[in-house]
Amino acid sequence: MRYRAKLCIFPVHFCEPYVSPGKLVIAIDGPAASGKSTTARLVAEALGYVHVDTGAMYRAVTLKVLGAGTDPSDGEAIRDLLGETHVELRRDGTLTRVLLDGRDVTEEIRSPAVTRAVSAVSRHRAVREAMVREQRRMGSAGGIVLEGRDIGTVVFPDAQVKFFIVAGIESRARRRAKELQDRGISPDMRALVEEIRERDRLDSTREESPLKKADDAIELDTSDLTIEEQVRIVVDRVRQVAEGRA
Ligand code: DC
Repeated sequence: MRYRAKLCIFPVHFCEPYVSPGKLVIAIDGPAASGKSTTARLVAEALGYVHVDTGAMYRAVTLKVLGAGTDPSDGEAIRDLLGETHVELRRDGTLTRVLLDGRDVTEEIRSPAVTRAVSAVSRHRAVREAMVREQRRMGSAGGIVLEGRDIGTVVFPDAQVKFFIVAGIESRARRRAKELQDRGISPDMRALVEEIRERDRLDSTREESPLKKADDAIELDTSDLTIEEQVRIVVDRVRQVAEGRA
């Protein structure tokens, strides 16, 4: 991706990629519990960018599906339900609150029931189209870090900075366990490893926008990195790109 400082008087999609320094789109993709959420949030904080956890949007839709008693495999029923579903990400200091139809569901979307059903719900084309449209709208002005599964491949294939974050299954399960413990849930490690494996399988084999590394994404294995190191690597790359050094 070239960095070009040029004045563009046409709508963005008619122009060559134009970004002002400090207004880049950063795509961070990777499998569940790879460390991408924490990295994305801290990178956004370091740069003064907006952080969008796109997984939270799919989780909110899944909560709606479960609450409505809709079968997560029923794409048509879910498409109809989307017409009456409103997902909003609202900034609250350094945190992002997730609102579903005006109700704060930030904690609820992390429940085991939602985690179990989210891959089944997010594979439907209607769900993906609605989420991607919203994500593109949010990112259209740049200055944003989006994390998910398909940001660098589908949502913003022209993102100026792309990372694909991976980590060994054991460290991912340990991270997920810590998150659950922090919320007062005592996890079964073996079940966690299985659940992560199954979600990887579903997310990377689905037909619509499967989880995969974009050709031009930098792969970052976080198994043995501290969070500070991960953040520094991404921020350094952003600076290089913004200064035309990459
Ligand atoms: O990042 P997460 O574990 O909270 O994501 C939950 C699920 O949402 C994930 O298993 C697949 C789906 N998802 C997706 O399909 N596309 C994205 N860009 C982000 C998440």
